[in-house]
Amino acid sequence: MNLTGEEERILKGEFGSGTQKAMELLVAIGEAYDAEKMIHVSRAHAASSGQEGDLYFVELLADGGARCKVPTSTNPVYDIKYFHSLFNHISKDEAQVARRVMEAYKRVGAILSWSCVPYLSENIPLYGESVAFSESSATPYVNSVIGARTNREAAQSALAAGIVGETPEYGLHVRENRKGTFLIDVEAYLKDEFDYTLLGYYVGKVVGYGIPVLTGISRRPSTEELINFCAMSNTSGAISMFYMPGFTVEAETVKDAFQGDTPKNKDTVSDKELCEVRKELQTASGRLDFVQLGCPHYTLKQVGRAASLLKGKKVHEGVGFWVCTSATTKLLADRIGYTGIIENAGGRVVVDTCIDEPCWVGYRDKVGMTDSPKCAYYRRFKDVMIGRLEDCVDAAVEGRWG
Ligand code: F3S
Repeated sequence: MNLTGEEERILKGEFGSGTQKAMELLVAIGEAYDAEKMIHVSRAHAASSGQEGDLYFVELLADGGARCKVPTSTNPVYDIKYFHSLFNHISKDEAQVARRVMEAYKRVGAILSWSCVPYLSENIPLYGESVAFSESSATPYVNSVIGARTNREAAQSALAAGIVGETPEYGLHVRENRKGTFLIDVEAYLKDEFDYTLLGYYVGKVVGYGIPVLTGISRRPSTEELINFCAMSNTSGAISMFYMPGFTVEAETVKDAFQGDTPKNKDTVSDKELCEVRKELQTASGRLDFVQLGCPHYTLKQVGRAASLLKGKKVHEGVGFWVCTSATTKLLADRIGYTGIIENAGGRVVVDTCIDEPCWVGYRDKVGMTDSPKCAYYRRFKDVMIGRLEDCVDAAVEGRWG
C-alpha cells in the first residue's frame, strides 16, 4: 500500500503501541484486498460482544494507550450488576470478561452506546460519508438506507478504524463495487417488520454473499422494517448492502442499481417462501417460559407499541417478558411512561444487552417466544416460537401460544 509519512510513523509505533497495532491490522486488511491507500473515516461502530476475542483486541489497544480518533460507538454487552441481581447463572469468568470489555472500551474513549442500532441516535452517518461499521443491521443500513460507505467490518477492524481514523480503500468504499448482483422480485405481502425479517432471512439465504436489488415493494418501508430486513439478511447471508429502487437512496432505478448491467441472478419471493421460513425457524408451540423482544434493539415506536398492547393486562405468572433497547431509547420511554406500563404488567425494559449474551443463560433449557426471527435463528434456549408483537403479548398474558 502507498502510505503517507504519518501513516508510516503510526506503523513504526511513534504514536504508541495501541495505535500501532490498530494500523498493523488495517494495513494487513488493505494488502489482502489490494487496496492502494488508506482513506479517512468520519466514524466507526465496533460490534463489541463481551467475548474473549473482543476482550483480547480491545485490551491490547487500550493497554497500548490507544484512543479513538473519530466517534466510535459500541454494541451490546450486558450490565453485570443488573443481571446478577436477577439470575445466579452467570459464571464468574464470563462476568469478568464482560466487565473487562466494557472497561477497555471506556479506556479507548469509545461512545459507550452498547446498542445495535447506533445509527438511529448515538452515531449517525450522513449520505456519502466513509465510515467503518460492524454489526449485522448497521452495515447494510448505513450503506443502503443512509448512503454512507462501509465495508462489512468485524468488531476489531471497525475499532482499529475508529482508533486510526482511517480504513483501507477497497470493497464498498469504491463505487464500482456497489453494483447490484442479484434481482429479487417481491410478490409476498409484507405487513410489518416481522414480515420484513422473514424476507431478510430468505434473501440472505438465496443470495449468500452479494448485493440484492429488490423490486415489487409496494409502499415505503418504515425504519423498523428496514432495520429488521438488514439485521436478518446480513445474518442468514452476508448482505452488506441492498437496493430497493425508489426507497433506498443510491439508485433510483433497477438499471442504476446494476450500473447498467443486465442482472444474471434472479429469484421471486412469494407468501409461500415466507411461510416456509417461518415454519423452519419455529420449533415449538404451547406453554412458554418467557417472551423476548428487541432483537434488533427496539426503537421508541416499538417500545410504545409493546406498552399500548400490554396496558391494563398482566403477564402470566412465571413468564418473563423482556424488551431490549438502547439506553437512549429507554430514557425517553421512561419519561413518556412506556416503561412504567410494561413494568406494571410484569415485564421489564432492559438496556445495554442482547439476546446473544451469556446473561440469559438461565433460559438455556426453557421455551421462549419472540417477534424476532433473528433471535429465533440464534436460539440460545431450548425451543422457540415466533410471532408478531401482538401474538407475543397475547402469549405472555396467556402463558401459552398456538
Ligand atoms: Fe442486536 Fe443482539 Fe439481535 S446485537 S440484532 S439484539 S443478536
